[in-house]
Amino acid sequence: MTPSSDPFRVGLLGHGTVGSAFHELLGARADAIEAEVGRRPEIAGVLTTRQGDFAEILGSSELIVELIGGTDPARDYVLRAMAAGRHVVTANKQLLSQFGEELFAAAREHGVQLRFEAAVAGVVPAIRVMSESLAGAYIERVHGIVNGTTNFILTEMTRTGETYPEALRQAQELGYAEADPSEDVSGKDAAAKMAILARLAFNAAVHLDEVRYEGIERVTVDDIAYAKELGLALKLVGSAERIDGGIAVHVYPAFLYADHPLASVNGAFNAVTVESPTITEITLSGPGAGGPQTASAVLGDVISAMIPPPSLPPPAVEQPIVTDVEFSFYLHLEVADRPGVLAQVAEILGMQEVSIKSVVQKGLGDEARLVMVMHPVLESKFRAAMELISRLDFVRSEPRVIRVIEEAFEAPA
Ligand SMILES: NC(=O)c1ccc[n+]([C@@H]2O[C@H](COP(=O)([O-])OP(=O)(O)OC[C@H]3O[C@@H](n4cnc5c(N)ncnc54)[C@H](OP(=O)(O)O)[C@@H]3O)[C@@H](O)[C@H]2O)c1
Repeated sequence: MTPSSDPFRVGLLGHGTVGSAFHELLGARADAIEAEVGRRPEIAGVLTTRQGDFAEILGSSELIVELIGGTDPARDYVLRAMAAGRHVVTANKQLLSQFGEELFAAAREHGVQLRFEAAVAGVVPAIRVMSESLAGAYIERVHGIVNGTTNFILTEMTRTGETYPEALRQAQELGYAEADPSEDVSGKDAAAKMAILARLAFNAAVHLDEVRYEGIERVTVDDIAYAKELGLALKLVGSAERIDGGIAVHVYPAFLYADHPLASVNGAFNAVTVESPTITEITLSGPGAGGPQTASAVLGDVISAMIPPPSLPPPAVEQPIVTDVEFSFYLHLEVADRPGVLAQVAEILGMQEVSIKSVVQKGLGDEARLVMVMHPVLESKFRAAMELISRLDFVRSEPRVIRVIEEAFEAPA
């Protein structure tokens, strides 16, 4: 392509881990991009808490890259940029999972692009694949390991037998976890990403508040040891699926059977599995975070925006959010070691239509451990059984419950 003398000017909001890596990468790749696209990208100005003026940067840019994070002032800047006719590229999952519909509507109204590949699973191209490559497929379910911090912690607990606090400390020392890790370990970060994936998979507006999430803070060394015995891998899984004419979006620690495509995703890697009758199953995996990796996804979006046509998800269709869903559960009970205990537990489970798939029982002096995996059952029924079981006099501590995901995919004949 013949290079034009007119540079493509990019306003950069935020110059932290990702912003500074993006700035550097854009400089390093500018020649190659100019040769390919015909225009040379250059930074028109940088805004941080200490430098730059938003109005000035906006006035001298064709596209705004938002890498501040959070919703305030990021939302205001992104809306103002689009109202001024600028394309926007962002890596901000909190913003999109809470104000996505407002932002998509503004992009449509002003005829600009809003791209956000880096907001979910870092450099893994889940957004592009779902909104472009799989646009023709009817997606039934998406599963994701979309938080690298928790996947690193669970991988280390499994590999070394470390406790959760030990593995968390190690993640912090290696820079995989923040000093305040609560957004990651509580599942909230993953919930925001699953809301965005659900929006694209089902064309339904899903707000962060509609995603039910649990974190990994209560996972114990015992859970992992029993999982190994049962041939399972423990992961923090995000799931978004069509159920009963609606949409269910969850994040929870789950056991995966060894042949599930997410079971072997380890360390700080992320992965997204998309299921559709048309394509069976596709899994994408790669680094979920990191300055240079995320910056590469951001730059990919900038280059796409330099070459139209625009790509925005179509307007959302009203669909109900379903919260009571069938899961298979793992149950760990500490009980008094006396006759009839298993029978009583089984009776209560049976009353709530919960059927047991497998049991491991171990005596520990006066006490015993019952570890069971159930067949799929509505969560409300299982929780009702747990309520009754936790009140039995021989139960020594609060029942521990983790979901199990157990299917394997078969290639079409
Ligand atoms: N880090 C990752 O690996 C990663 C991966 C995927 C997605 N993301 C997303 O990328 C975005 C940026 O993350 P990050 O890790 O680069 O964050 P970061 O290191 O904390 O950097 C944030 C930048 O925004 C600036 N900033 C904060 N408040 C501002 C305000 N009110 N006005 C102007 N500038 C402000 C900061 O200014 P100062 O320099 O003055 O402090 C800093 O330069 C977030 O949306 C995050 O979720 C990050």
